[in-house]
Amino acid sequence: MAPLSILLFLAALVLSETAPVADTDLKTQDSTSPLSVKILDAVFGKATNNMDVEVYRQAENGSWILFATGKTTSLGEVPDLVKAEDFVEGVYKVKLNSWAYWRKVGITPFYENVQVVFRANHVVRRNYIIAALLSPYSQTISAVVSDPIS
Ligand SMILES: *[C@@H]1O[C@H](CO)[C@@H](O)[C@H](O)[C@H]1NC(C)=O
Repeated sequence: MAPLSILLFLAALVLSETAPVADTDLKTQDSTSPLSVKILDAVFGKATNNMDVEVYRQAENGSWILFATGKTTSLGEVPDLVKAEDFVEGVYKVKLNSWAYWRKVGITPFYENVQVVFRANHVVRRNYIIAALLSPYSQTISAVVSDPIS
């Protein structure tokens, strides 16, 4: 992992929004998962706690097969989201169930959910962090992709 690069990225995101995110929410935790998420709430200026995250992998016939699930911790992350040996080359979809998250705090959001679809591990294996800054009517998503894993 490259925590410094994600911190710099998130700092840039946060500076462009109104609600400041506390330093502690920008920490990343150690995880062996080659796919991670970092989901921040731009309304209350914190990491999103307890948001459902689903990862799908595209089958050869184009259908989406559920691959992994989890809930964000108070750091806005899902520890050990996927196993390295299972995370083979393919097209993946990370789905964040943001609707339920906002409804819990009394906000009716525009988006039903947030979906990020990307191709992973073509050419070589890498680590992927999906970093998202969410508001009820707006979302900013960036991928932080590592150098090849040797
Ligand atoms: C598509 O492929 C998946 C996985 O191989 C399988 O479970 C599913 O039934 C297939 N769907 C169709 C419509 O053929």
